[in-house]
Amino acid sequence: MKRKRIFFRNNGLSPVEIIRHRLLPEDLHLKWPQFENRKVIYTHLGRIGNVLLCKLWNIQAGDEILVPSYNCGSEVDPFIWFGMKVVMYRIDDRLKIDVEDLYQRITNKTRIIYVTHYFGWPHPLEDIKKICSNKNIYLVEDCALSLFSNGPDGPIGLVGDGAIHSFKKTLPVADGGALTLLSNYDLNSQPGTQPAFGVIAKETIPIILRWFISSSQSIPIVSDSLFYVGNNLSKFESDLPFLENLDMPKDYYFSEHVMAWTISRISAGILKSSDPHKIFNCKRKNFKRLRDGIIEINNIKLLLENLPEGVCPLLFPLKVSDVFKWIRELNTMGIKATRWWEGFNQKLNWDDFPEAKNLKQKLLVLPVHQDLSDEDIDYMVTSIKRVAKSI
Ligand SMILES: Cc1ncc(COP(=O)(O)O)c(C=O)c1O
Repeated sequence: MKRKRIFFRNNGLSPVEIIRHRLLPEDLHLKWPQFENRKVIYTHLGRIGNVLLCKLWNIQAGDEILVPSYNCGSEVDPFIWFGMKVVMYRIDDRLKIDVEDLYQRITNKTRIIYVTHYFGWPHPLEDIKKICSNKNIYLVEDCALSLFSNGPDGPIGLVGDGAIHSFKKTLPVADGGALTLLSNYDLNSQPGTQPAFGVIAKETIPIILRWFISSSQSIPIVSDSLFYVGNNLSKFESDLPFLENLDMPKDYYFSEHVMAWTISRISAGILKSSDPHKIFNCKRKNFKRLRDGIIEINNIKLLLENLPEGVCPLLFPLKVSDVFKWIRELNTMGIKATRWWEGFNQKLNWDDFPEAKNLKQKLLVLPVHQDLSDEDIDYMVTSIKRVAKSI
Protein backbone atom coordinates (compact mmCIF):
# COMPACT_ATOMS: atom_id res chain seq x y z
CA MET A 1 0.00 0.00 0.00
CA LYS A 2 1.38 3.40 -0.93
CA ARG A 3 2.04 5.60 2.08
CA LYS A 4 0.06 8.52 0.80
CA ARG A 5 -2.06 9.12 -2.19
CA ILE A 6 -4.40 11.69 -3.55
CA PHE A 7 -7.61 10.62 -2.09
CA PHE A 8 -9.96 13.04 -3.67
CA ARG A 9 -9.55 12.99 -7.41
CA ASN A 10 -11.97 15.28 -9.25
CA ASN A 11 -12.43 17.19 -6.06
CA GLY A 12 -12.64 20.94 -6.59
CA LEU A 13 -13.34 22.87 -9.76
CA SER A 14 -11.13 24.03 -12.62
CA PRO A 15 -10.66 27.76 -13.30
CA VAL A 16 -12.65 27.33 -16.52
CA GLU A 17 -15.57 25.82 -14.62
CA ILE A 18 -15.45 28.61 -12.07
CA ILE A 19 -15.62 31.25 -14.80
CA ARG A 20 -18.43 29.38 -16.56
CA HIS A 21 -20.47 29.31 -13.36
CA ARG A 22 -19.77 33.00 -12.71
CA LEU A 23 -21.17 33.83 -16.13
CA LEU A 24 -24.50 32.04 -15.65
CA PRO A 25 -27.55 34.29 -15.29
CA GLU A 26 -27.84 35.86 -11.86
CA ASP A 27 -31.31 34.70 -10.82
CA LEU A 28 -31.48 31.61 -8.62
CA HIS A 29 -34.64 29.50 -8.46
CA LEU A 30 -33.63 26.02 -7.43
CA LYS A 31 -36.35 23.47 -7.95
CA TRP A 32 -35.06 21.26 -5.16
CA PRO A 33 -37.63 19.24 -3.24
CA GLN A 34 -36.66 20.75 0.12
CA PHE A 35 -37.68 24.17 -1.18
CA GLU A 36 -41.04 23.09 -2.55
CA ASN A 37 -43.99 25.26 -1.43
CA ARG A 38 -41.73 27.38 0.74
CA LYS A 39 -40.50 30.94 0.46
CA VAL A 40 -36.76 30.75 -0.09
CA ILE A 41 -34.29 33.50 0.83
CA TYR A 42 -30.70 32.97 -0.27
CA THR A 43 -27.97 34.16 2.06
CA HIS A 44 -24.19 34.36 2.10
CA LEU A 45 -24.07 32.01 5.11
CA GLY A 46 -26.66 29.68 6.62
CA ARG A 47 -26.45 31.36 10.04
CA ILE A 48 -27.73 34.66 8.58
CA GLY A 49 -31.11 32.94 8.24
CA ASN A 50 -31.31 32.67 12.03
CA VAL A 51 -31.03 36.43 12.48
CA LEU A 52 -33.58 36.99 9.71
CA LEU A 53 -35.98 34.73 11.59
CA CYS A 54 -35.58 36.75 14.78
CA LYS A 55 -36.38 39.93 12.86
CA LEU A 56 -39.27 38.41 10.99
CA TRP A 57 -40.90 36.95 14.10
CA ASN A 58 -40.36 40.11 16.11
CA ILE A 59 -38.24 38.35 18.72
CA GLN A 60 -37.38 40.54 21.71
CA ALA A 61 -34.23 40.58 23.84
CA GLY A 62 -34.73 38.08 26.66
CA ASP A 63 -37.04 35.83 24.66
CA GLU A 64 -35.94 32.22 24.93
CA ILE A 65 -34.86 29.65 22.38
CA LEU A 66 -34.29 25.94 23.04
CA VAL A 67 -31.32 24.56 21.12
CA PRO A 68 -29.75 21.09 21.04
CA SER A 69 -26.81 20.50 23.37
CA TYR A 70 -24.87 18.88 20.55
CA ASN A 71 -24.24 21.89 18.34
CA CYS A 72 -21.59 23.53 16.23
CA GLY A 73 -21.87 26.87 18.00
CA SER A 74 -22.01 28.98 14.84
CA GLU A 75 -25.73 28.31 14.37
CA VAL A 76 -26.48 29.28 17.98
CA ASP A 77 -24.38 32.43 18.13
CA PRO A 78 -26.73 34.56 15.95
CA PHE A 79 -29.48 34.09 18.55
CA ILE A 80 -27.15 35.14 21.38
CA TRP A 81 -26.03 38.10 19.28
CA PHE A 82 -29.68 39.06 18.79
CA GLY A 83 -30.20 39.11 22.56
CA MET A 84 -32.12 35.87 23.02
CA LYS A 85 -31.62 33.68 26.04
CA VAL A 86 -30.29 30.40 24.69
CA VAL A 87 -31.25 27.29 26.66
CA MET A 88 -29.81 23.93 25.67
CA TYR A 89 -31.77 20.68 25.80
CA ARG A 90 -30.33 17.17 26.00
CA ILE A 91 -29.13 15.18 22.99
CA ASP A 92 -28.16 11.64 23.96
CA ASP A 93 -25.05 9.76 22.92
CA ARG A 94 -26.90 8.24 19.92
CA LEU A 95 -27.80 11.74 18.65
CA LYS A 96 -31.43 11.44 19.70
CA ILE A 97 -33.46 14.32 21.13
CA ASP A 98 -34.56 13.82 24.73
CA VAL A 99 -38.08 15.15 24.18
CA GLU A 100 -38.93 14.94 27.87
CA ASP A 101 -35.92 17.09 28.75
CA LEU A 102 -36.83 19.55 26.01
CA TYR A 103 -40.38 19.76 27.28
CA GLN A 104 -39.21 20.47 30.86
CA ARG A 105 -37.23 23.46 29.67
CA ILE A 106 -40.11 25.29 28.01
CA THR A 107 -41.16 28.46 29.84
CA ASN A 108 -43.65 31.19 29.00
CA LYS A 109 -40.76 33.07 27.37
CA THR A 110 -39.89 30.27 24.93
CA ARG A 111 -40.46 31.53 21.39
CA ILE A 112 -38.42 29.09 19.28
CA ILE A 113 -37.50 25.41 19.40
CA TYR A 114 -34.47 24.68 17.24
CA VAL A 115 -33.80 21.17 15.95
CA THR A 116 -30.70 20.03 14.06
CA HIS A 117 -30.84 16.97 11.83
CA TYR A 118 -27.41 15.37 12.24
CA PHE A 119 -25.38 14.11 9.31
CA GLY A 120 -28.48 13.63 7.13
CA TRP A 121 -30.50 11.51 9.60
CA PRO A 122 -33.92 13.03 10.29
CA HIS A 123 -35.40 13.50 13.76
CA PRO A 124 -39.02 12.49 14.04
CA LEU A 125 -40.79 15.80 14.57
CA GLU A 126 -44.45 14.93 15.21
CA ASP A 127 -44.25 15.33 19.02
CA ILE A 128 -42.21 18.49 18.91
CA LYS A 129 -44.41 20.01 16.24
CA LYS A 130 -47.43 19.31 18.42
CA ILE A 131 -45.77 20.94 21.43
CA CYS A 132 -44.98 23.98 19.29
CA SER A 133 -48.51 24.28 17.94
CA ASN A 134 -50.06 23.92 21.41
CA LYS A 135 -47.79 26.48 23.00
CA ASN A 136 -47.52 28.89 20.10
CA ILE A 137 -43.79 28.35 19.67
CA TYR A 138 -41.94 28.53 16.35
CA LEU A 139 -40.14 25.41 15.13
CA VAL A 140 -36.87 25.83 13.22
CA GLU A 141 -35.15 22.97 11.43
CA ASP A 142 -31.41 23.20 10.91
CA CYS A 143 -30.70 21.32 7.69
CA ALA A 144 -27.08 22.43 7.32
CA LEU A 145 -25.92 18.80 7.56
CA SER A 146 -28.85 17.31 5.66
CA LEU A 147 -28.96 18.64 2.13
CA PHE A 148 -30.83 16.30 -0.26
CA SER A 149 -31.84 14.04 2.64
CA ASN A 150 -35.31 12.69 3.38
CA GLY A 151 -37.33 11.32 6.26
CA PRO A 152 -40.23 8.87 6.01
CA ASP A 153 -42.54 11.74 5.02
CA GLY A 154 -40.36 13.42 2.44
CA PRO A 155 -37.48 15.88 2.24
CA ILE A 156 -36.00 17.17 5.49
CA GLY A 157 -36.82 20.80 6.15
CA LEU A 158 -40.48 21.07 5.20
CA VAL A 159 -42.03 20.82 8.67
CA GLY A 160 -40.54 23.76 10.58
CA ASP A 161 -41.90 27.29 10.40
CA GLY A 162 -38.37 28.09 9.32
CA ALA A 163 -35.47 25.96 8.05
CA ILE A 164 -31.89 26.88 7.33
CA HIS A 165 -29.44 25.33 4.88
CA SER A 166 -25.70 25.74 4.37
CA PHE A 167 -24.45 24.56 0.99
CA LYS A 168 -20.73 24.51 1.74
CA LYS A 169 -21.04 21.31 3.71
CA THR A 170 -22.12 19.31 0.68
CA LEU A 171 -21.07 21.18 -2.45
CA PRO A 172 -17.85 22.77 -3.70
CA VAL A 173 -19.00 26.35 -3.15
CA ALA A 174 -17.32 29.34 -1.57
CA ASP A 175 -20.43 30.41 0.31
CA GLY A 176 -24.20 30.13 0.34
CA GLY A 177 -27.10 29.34 2.57
CA ALA A 178 -30.86 29.49 2.44
CA LEU A 179 -33.64 30.30 4.82
CA THR A 180 -36.90 28.67 3.85
CA LEU A 181 -40.24 29.62 5.36
CA LEU A 182 -43.47 27.74 5.68
CA SER A 183 -45.55 30.84 5.11
CA ASN A 184 -45.04 33.54 2.59
CA TYR A 185 -43.84 36.13 5.09
CA ASP A 186 -42.89 39.55 3.87
CA LEU A 187 -39.40 40.44 4.93
CA ASN A 188 -38.69 44.16 4.85
CA SER A 189 -35.06 43.77 4.02
CA GLN A 190 -33.59 40.71 2.41
CA PRO A 191 -29.89 40.26 1.78
CA GLY A 192 -29.17 41.48 -1.74
CA THR A 193 -25.57 42.68 -1.84
CA GLN A 194 -22.87 40.53 -3.38
CA PRO A 195 -20.23 39.44 -0.82
CA ALA A 196 -16.92 41.31 -0.82
CA PHE A 197 -14.70 40.13 -3.69
CA GLY A 198 -11.83 39.30 -1.33
CA VAL A 199 -14.00 37.00 0.78
CA ILE A 200 -15.18 34.96 -2.18
CA ALA A 201 -11.74 34.90 -3.79
CA LYS A 202 -10.21 33.61 -0.54
CA GLU A 203 -12.79 30.82 -0.37
CA THR A 204 -12.61 29.99 -4.08
CA ILE A 205 -8.85 29.64 -4.32
CA PRO A 206 -8.81 26.39 -2.27
CA ILE A 207 -11.48 24.93 -4.57
CA ILE A 208 -9.32 25.63 -7.61
CA LEU A 209 -6.17 24.54 -5.82
CA ARG A 210 -7.83 21.27 -4.95
CA TRP A 211 -8.62 20.74 -8.61
CA PHE A 212 -4.97 21.31 -9.55
CA ILE A 213 -3.72 19.07 -6.79
CA SER A 214 -6.15 16.27 -7.47
CA SER A 215 -5.42 16.43 -11.19
CA SER A 216 -1.77 15.93 -10.48
CA GLN A 217 -1.43 12.46 -8.99
CA SER A 218 2.06 13.04 -7.74
CA ILE A 219 1.64 15.56 -4.96
CA PRO A 220 1.09 13.92 -1.59
CA ILE A 221 -1.23 15.87 0.64
CA VAL A 222 -3.66 15.19 3.36
CA SER A 223 -6.73 16.24 1.49
CA ASP A 224 -9.64 18.03 3.02
CA SER A 225 -12.81 16.48 1.80
CA LEU A 226 -15.64 17.22 4.13
CA PHE A 227 -16.28 20.75 3.13
CA TYR A 228 -14.26 20.71 -0.08
CA VAL A 229 -12.93 24.04 1.03
CA GLY A 230 -10.30 23.81 3.69
CA ASN A 231 -7.20 25.69 4.58
CA ASN A 232 -5.39 23.43 7.01
CA LEU A 233 -3.89 21.19 4.38
CA SER A 234 -0.48 21.15 5.96
CA LYS A 235 -1.28 20.66 9.64
CA PHE A 236 -2.32 17.36 11.16
CA GLU A 237 -5.25 17.89 13.44
CA SER A 238 -3.80 15.42 15.87
CA ASP A 239 -0.85 17.73 16.42
CA LEU A 240 -3.17 20.14 18.19
CA PRO A 241 -3.25 19.86 21.97
CA PHE A 242 -6.28 18.29 23.61
CA LEU A 243 -8.18 20.99 25.46
CA GLU A 244 -11.11 20.20 27.70
CA ASN A 245 -13.03 23.31 26.70
CA LEU A 246 -11.47 24.30 23.39
CA ASP A 247 -12.89 27.55 21.98
CA MET A 248 -14.55 27.37 18.58
CA PRO A 249 -12.82 29.23 15.71
CA LYS A 250 -13.23 33.00 15.89
CA ASP A 251 -15.19 33.17 12.64
CA TYR A 252 -17.89 30.88 14.07
CA TYR A 253 -18.97 33.78 16.29
CA PHE A 254 -21.55 35.93 14.55
CA SER A 255 -20.42 39.11 12.89
CA GLU A 256 -22.97 41.65 11.70
CA HIS A 257 -21.05 42.66 8.59
CA VAL A 258 -22.33 39.61 6.65
CA MET A 259 -26.02 40.39 7.20
CA ALA A 260 -26.60 42.24 3.92
CA TRP A 261 -24.79 39.71 1.76
CA THR A 262 -26.56 37.23 -0.46
CA ILE A 263 -25.06 34.14 -2.06
CA SER A 264 -22.21 34.93 -4.46
CA ARG A 265 -22.76 34.60 -8.20
CA ILE A 266 -20.14 31.89 -8.49
CA SER A 267 -21.80 29.76 -5.83
CA ALA A 268 -25.24 30.37 -7.33
CA GLY A 269 -23.90 29.10 -10.67
CA ILE A 270 -22.43 25.99 -9.07
CA LEU A 271 -25.72 25.24 -7.28
CA LYS A 272 -27.61 25.53 -10.56
CA SER A 273 -25.30 23.01 -12.18
CA SER A 274 -25.41 20.51 -9.30
CA ASP A 275 -27.32 17.28 -9.70
CA PRO A 276 -29.00 16.41 -6.35
CA HIS A 277 -30.06 12.98 -7.54
CA LYS A 278 -26.54 11.99 -8.54
CA ILE A 279 -25.04 13.35 -5.32
CA PHE A 280 -27.65 11.50 -3.25
CA ASN A 281 -26.92 8.18 -4.96
CA CYS A 282 -23.12 8.53 -4.80
CA LYS A 283 -23.05 9.42 -1.12
CA ARG A 284 -25.34 6.54 -0.19
CA LYS A 285 -23.28 4.11 -2.23
CA ASN A 286 -20.07 5.31 -0.57
CA PHE A 287 -21.55 5.15 2.91
CA LYS A 288 -22.78 1.57 2.42
CA ARG A 289 -19.52 0.38 0.93
CA LEU A 290 -17.52 1.87 3.77
CA ARG A 291 -19.91 0.54 6.42
CA ASP A 292 -19.91 -2.97 4.98
CA GLY A 293 -16.13 -2.90 4.85
CA ILE A 294 -15.55 -1.92 8.47
CA ILE A 295 -18.62 -3.06 10.39
CA GLU A 296 -16.89 -6.20 11.72
CA ILE A 297 -13.89 -4.36 13.16
CA ASN A 298 -13.89 -4.78 16.93
CA ASN A 299 -12.38 -1.60 18.27
CA ILE A 300 -14.54 0.89 16.41
CA LYS A 301 -18.19 1.70 17.05
CA LEU A 302 -20.37 3.00 14.26
CA LEU A 303 -22.56 5.83 15.45
CA LEU A 304 -25.09 5.56 12.63
CA GLU A 305 -25.10 2.04 11.33
CA ASN A 306 -28.40 1.90 9.49
CA LEU A 307 -28.90 3.97 6.42
CA PRO A 308 -32.67 4.36 6.14
CA GLU A 309 -34.17 4.83 2.72
CA GLY A 310 -34.03 8.47 1.74
CA VAL A 311 -31.13 9.50 3.97
CA CYS A 312 -28.29 11.33 2.22
CA PRO A 313 -25.33 10.92 4.58
CA LEU A 314 -23.08 13.95 5.01
CA LEU A 315 -20.19 11.85 6.28
CA PHE A 316 -19.39 8.76 8.31
CA PRO A 317 -19.19 9.18 12.11
CA LEU A 318 -17.31 6.68 14.29
CA LYS A 319 -16.46 6.27 17.92
CA VAL A 320 -12.95 5.08 18.72
CA SER A 321 -11.02 4.88 21.96
CA ASP A 322 -8.07 7.09 21.02
CA VAL A 323 -9.36 9.59 18.51
CA PHE A 324 -6.07 11.50 18.17
CA LYS A 325 -4.12 8.38 17.40
CA TRP A 326 -6.66 7.33 14.79
CA ILE A 327 -6.58 10.73 13.16
CA ARG A 328 -2.80 10.76 13.09
CA GLU A 329 -2.60 7.31 11.52
CA LEU A 330 -5.32 7.90 8.94
CA ASN A 331 -4.01 11.35 8.04
CA THR A 332 -0.61 9.78 7.42
CA MET A 333 -2.26 7.42 4.96
CA GLY A 334 -3.78 10.39 3.12
CA ILE A 335 -7.26 10.08 4.55
CA LYS A 336 -8.94 13.14 5.89
CA ALA A 337 -10.25 11.80 9.16
CA THR A 338 -11.13 14.56 11.55
CA ARG A 339 -12.92 15.42 14.76
CA TRP A 340 -16.28 17.11 14.41
CA TRP A 341 -17.31 20.32 16.19
CA GLU A 342 -14.49 19.95 18.69
CA GLY A 343 -14.70 23.62 19.78
CA PHE A 344 -17.20 24.95 22.30
CA ASN A 345 -19.09 28.23 22.03
CA GLN A 346 -17.77 29.95 25.14
CA LYS A 347 -21.01 31.81 25.76
CA LEU A 348 -22.80 28.57 26.65
CA ASN A 349 -22.53 26.50 29.80
CA TRP A 350 -21.81 22.89 28.86
CA ASP A 351 -21.59 21.44 32.37
CA ASP A 352 -25.00 19.74 32.29
CA PHE A 353 -24.41 18.01 28.96
CA PRO A 354 -21.69 15.37 29.32
CA GLU A 355 -22.99 13.34 26.36
CA ALA A 356 -22.78 16.30 24.00
CA LYS A 357 -19.31 17.15 25.32
CA ASN A 358 -18.27 13.59 24.78
CA LEU A 359 -19.52 13.61 21.19
CA LYS A 360 -17.67 16.85 20.50
CA GLN A 361 -14.45 15.50 21.94
CA LYS A 362 -14.48 11.89 20.81
CA LEU A 363 -16.25 11.61 17.49
CA LEU A 364 -14.20 10.79 14.42
CA VAL A 365 -15.68 11.46 10.99
CA LEU A 366 -14.70 10.09 7.61
CA PRO A 367 -15.57 11.35 4.13
CA VAL A 368 -18.17 9.70 1.91
CA HIS A 369 -18.63 12.58 -0.50
CA GLN A 370 -19.82 12.26 -4.05
CA ASP A 371 -16.42 12.46 -5.77
CA LEU A 372 -15.01 9.38 -4.06
CA SER A 373 -14.78 6.24 -6.19
CA ASP A 374 -15.23 2.61 -5.11
CA GLU A 375 -11.47 2.32 -5.24
CA ASP A 376 -11.10 5.23 -2.82
CA ILE A 377 -13.55 3.66 -0.39
CA ASP A 378 -11.76 0.32 -0.59
CA TYR A 379 -8.48 2.05 0.14
CA MET A 380 -10.10 3.66 3.17
CA VAL A 381 -11.40 0.26 4.39
CA THR A 382 -7.96 -1.34 4.07
CA SER A 383 -6.35 1.57 5.89
CA ILE A 384 -8.88 1.48 8.72
CA LYS A 385 -8.30 -2.26 9.18
CA ARG A 386 -4.58 -1.64 9.39
CA VAL A 387 -4.97 1.10 11.99
CA ALA A 388 -7.40 -1.03 14.02
CA LYS A 389 -4.81 -3.82 14.18
CA SER A 390 -2.04 -1.50 15.26
CA ILE A 391 -3.97 0.27 18.03
C1 LIG B 1 -25.47 22.47 12.18
C2 LIG B 1 -25.00 23.77 11.61
N1 LIG B 1 -25.90 24.72 11.37
C3 LIG B 1 -25.56 25.89 10.83
C4 LIG B 1 -24.26 26.18 10.53
C5 LIG B 1 -23.91 27.52 9.98
O1 LIG B 1 -23.66 27.44 8.61
P1 LIG B 1 -22.89 28.62 7.89
O2 LIG B 1 -21.43 28.42 8.15
O3 LIG B 1 -23.25 28.52 6.45
O4 LIG B 1 -23.37 29.89 8.49
C6 LIG B 1 -23.27 25.23 10.76
C7 LIG B 1 -21.87 25.52 10.42
O5 LIG B 1 -20.98 24.77 10.58
C8 LIG B 1 -23.65 23.98 11.30
O6 LIG B 1 -22.74 23.03 11.55
